[in-house]
Amino acid sequence: MKSVLIIVLLAISIKSIAQPTELDNKVQAFLNKHKGKWHDLNVPYEDGKILYDLIIKNHYTSALEIGTSTGHSTVWIAWAMSKTGGKVVTIEIDKRRHEEAIENLAEAGLSNYVDARLANAHELVKELPGPFDFVFSDADKDWYKQYFLDVHPKLKLNGCYTTHNVADGLAGDGYYKFVTSHPDYTTTLDRTSRAGVLISYKKK
Ligand SMILES: C[S@@+](CC[C@H](N)C(=O)[O-])C[C@H]1O[C@@H](n2cnc3c(N)ncnc32)[C@H](O)[C@@H]1O
Repeated sequence: MKSVLIIVLLAISIKSIAQPTELDNKVQAFLNKHKGKWHDLNVPYEDGKILYDLIIKNHYTSALEIGTSTGHSTVWIAWAMSKTGGKVVTIEIDKRRHEEAIENLAEAGLSNYVDARLANAHELVKELPGPFDFVFSDADKDWYKQYFLDVHPKLKLNGCYTTHNVADGLAGDGYYKFVTSHPDYTTTLDRTSRAGVLISYKKK
């Protein structure tokens, strides 16, 4: 009798965990509505999902995104932050894109989880104090290495530094080799999409 009761209680609690919230429904509706329609160098849906899953799996709460554009990846990161109780700082240099991103995040119901900055990331990344436990680097590729060097001391142990568009040597300046051979990181390449997401965990 007692074990039946435990099973019933477990089933109820699992069901309540899996139940999407009002915010989940709003974000999912937003993502479905815009799927395949992003046209400002935005990540594909699949790559947004990779970022979301990484944050949820590791319970990250302090994210930095370099290269907001109109906010597709930001929506995924912010959605994950809404689950972990965290926030993402995101940087964009283009005013029109920055403003559109703010509108998109509001439409998705995620404004509270985002600090969107209109700035040159070359300067702001150096200035932000951190610490961060999750980073998504997706702005100008010829600066990828410098962004990594600037963020490295502000990334927490077991934190994760992700970089977009690194497949097929797309990121110049020996970036791929630099990161994959960095002694303080364990790095893998997720090729779910053609662009590729480089995932580097800080181990020391
Ligand atoms: C590939 S797009 C980002 C896409 C975005 N992560 C998404 O999935 O929606 C790169 C963005 O970085 C911005 N960018 C380029 N150089 C920058 C810089 N120095 N500082 C800030 N943003 C920059 C570009 O204006 C562009 O919108």
